[in-house]
This record gives sequence, structure tokens and C-alpha cells, in this order.
Amino acid sequence: MTFLWGVATSAYQIEGASENDWTEWEQRGRLKESGVRCGKAAGHRERWRSDLALLPTIGANAYRFSVEWSRIEPRRGRLDEAALLETRETVELLTRLGVEPVVTLHHYTHPAWFWAEGGWERPESVEWFRRFAAAVADALGNRVRLWVTINEPIVLLLGGYLAGLIPPGQKSFRACARALEHLLRAHGEAAAVIRERNPSARVGLAHNMLDFAPDRADSRLDQRLAESGESFYNLALLEAIATGDMVWALPGEGRVRFRLAELPAANDYVGVNYYSRVHLRFGIVPPWRGQFFYRDPAARGLTEMGWEIHPQGFERVLRAAAQARRPLLVTENGIAVRDDRRRRDFLREHTLILNHVREAGLPVEGYFYWSLLDNFEWLEGFRPRFGLFEVDYATFARRRRPSADLFAELGKRFTAGEAGGGSSDVSRMSRER
Ligand code: FCB
Repeated sequence: MTFLWGVATSAYQIEGASENDWTEWEQRGRLKESGVRCGKAAGHRERWRSDLALLPTIGANAYRFSVEWSRIEPRRGRLDEAALLETRETVELLTRLGVEPVVTLHHYTHPAWFWAEGGWERPESVEWFRRFAAAVADALGNRVRLWVTINEPIVLLLGGYLAGLIPPGQKSFRACARALEHLLRAHGEAAAVIRERNPSARVGLAHNMLDFAPDRADSRLDQRLAESGESFYNLALLEAIATGDMVWALPGEGRVRFRLAELPAANDYVGVNYYSRVHLRFGIVPPWRGQFFYRDPAARGLTEMGWEIHPQGFERVLRAAAQARRPLLVTENGIAVRDDRRRRDFLREHTLILNHVREAGLPVEGYFYWSLLDNFEWLEGFRPRFGLFEVDYATFARRRRPSADLFAELGKRFTAGEAGGGSSDVSRMSRER
């Protein structure tokens, strides 16, 4: 099977405002910089056809994008047929371009009505999401093989229900635990309705994974904290996918345990989103008696997100993800920098790791760079630049960065022939540069 070589985006981050929770969140001044609004984001709604046409020019044979729930179902139970049709046209255009569509149903945003009705804490949320998934699957039928139901459930829960930084802005472990169960059930239901429509569909989640390290290498407390961080952030979900048993223990907060017998069958693959490493330091500060930092021990400069560039962590998380005993897709990996040389270094180093782990036998079947275009980066607004294409936010003009050429070059090696031959070329090329 051809290796999937592509880029990832999400609807809100490139299409912009909609009747959803993030639009409200911005109006309430909850972003880091006051006054920032997503607005038209990268102007993709008016330019989606020409943006998709960029994909073959960077050698992408796959494209991961998301469907905006609030556009498909702006009022509860009322579907917007025009929005569904546009989603289908998107898929059809990708197919004509020779690019495999990878559809994400949920990428952080929710229709405004979803929270008014009580959100993920309510058991009914499972049914709401199932109906939305069914509507999209009906519209796309067997045109789409690869599906991501939910992007980064753990980040959504920690950010939205524990840290209160993103919608719904709660700080309650009890609510968080309830929402976890409903999110995973919703994933299972969505997987089932997708497969009813397309028996050859492959469904999974995109799981954000971090590399964890103790802040003070010789501190037993920091070491323990790093271990528990790795356990509740990275491993608990993988274990649940492998066995159906979810055990989630957050130091200083609580512990939740439940069984979802249908979960293992609802995951054909594991999607891994990898960006960086965090250092954990024990302290007496709530919520979980620990603080995390991005450090820069190799003095390479943090990214515009304030994240460490740490390719070795990529190998560690991929090896950990393999514990779920599923094929792996790197559903996101990327860097926010203005100096495009650093992006090229990042790409070379991370694809070198990718090549290495594949040669070592890990079943990684695809890689998606985040992102095609510069875009709206949630709490950070428009400052971080992740794109292979630069976006001029005054005119919405796209300008190809040199890293787009490198991406195309690397892709040739990953997609040509079988893993062995093609991937050795990658090592050689990476060494040459
Ligand atoms: C991931 C998100 C994605 C983007 C990148 C930088 O965690 O899934 O939307 O914001 O981070």
C-alpha cells in the first residue's frame, strides 16, 4: 500500500467564523491577545478550490481536513444541505486531483447549541454526535475511506474541562471524567455509522502525544510526575484502544475507570499528533501539584508556540503508540517559525525518524505535516506560522515557502515503491543536506 504523504488542516482554522463555540470564546476575550478574532481565518472558504489545487504541487497524495459541525448542523437537528454538498464537492475535487481525503469530524469546535444543551457532560451528546457523523457519512458514502472521528480528545478534555482555557471553560474533574466517557462512546458510535455506510472505511482518533521528562533529572518527585504525565496524557487512551478499559488517573485530581467493550473494534488505526517535549516539575500548585515547561536544552530556539524542537521524542511517542497494536498514522507534525530554514530542518529531522522507525518495523502508514497554510492557531491567534504556504492576512495571497519544495522531495522518497528502497533514499537525502 502506498504510504500516505500529506498535510493536515482544520475547518475553523482556515475557514473562520461560524456559529460555534470558538467564535463566542473570542468575543468573550478568551484568547491570549485581546481583540483578536478568527474572522475569515486564512480565507479558505472563498479559496478552497485553488487551495486544494496546491496539494499535487507539493507531492501530497493525501489531505486531512475537518468538517465544521456548526456549518453542517447550525441548529440542533437541522442539517444544512448546501454545507453537506460542499463537503462532498471537496471530496470529489480531491479525488480528481489524485489526493486521498482523510475526513476529521470533530476538530475542537462545537455548534453553539451544543453547549446550550449541556455539552459532553450530557449522555445525549453521544447521540448528537452520532447523528452528525451519520449525516456526513451519508453525504460522503464510500467516497471516503479514512476517517478521524475526534481530534485530540485528551487535549480537549484537559483544556476545556480541567484548565478552563478552551470551551466550555470548566475546571471540574467530575465533569471532565463524564465528558471523557461520552466522547469515547461518541467515537464508537460514529465509527459504527461510518462503517454501516462504507464497510471498507478505516476509522480512528487523532491522539496528541508529548514526550515527557522530569524537570530536575535527579528529583524523584519530578520523575514520578513525568511518569504519571506520560501515563494519563499518552498511554491511558492507547491502553483503552487496545483493551476497552479506560483508567485515567490525574495526580491531585482523581481517578476514573470504565469499560467500553466496543472501543477496540472502533479503532482501525491510531493517529498520532506529535510536536514537542515537556518537562514536569513537582510543586504545590494546583490543579495537579505539578507544572510543565518547554525547555531548550539543545539551544535550538523554541518555536513560535514556545515549544521545544525535539525529534527524538517523535520516536519515543511512535513506539509508545504501537502499544495500541494498530497501524499508525502521523496525523499531525509541524513547526511554527518564520525562518523557513528551521522548518526545513524540522522536516528533515522528523522524516529521518519516521524512516528509521519504519525500517525498525513500526507500522506507520502515513505522515501529515501541519499545516498546508498559515492559519488561526486557537488561543495564540495568527502569530504562529505553520504553513508550507505563507498567508498574507491583508490580501489572503498565498506564497509558497521553500519548505514546500522540500516536502515534495521528501514525499517522493516515502511514496516511491516499497518502504525499504524508498525510505533508505530518505536517510541518504537527509544526510546529504
Ligand atoms: C494541534 C491541533 C491543531 C493545531 C496544532 C498546532 O494540537 O490539533 O489544530 O493547532 O496543534
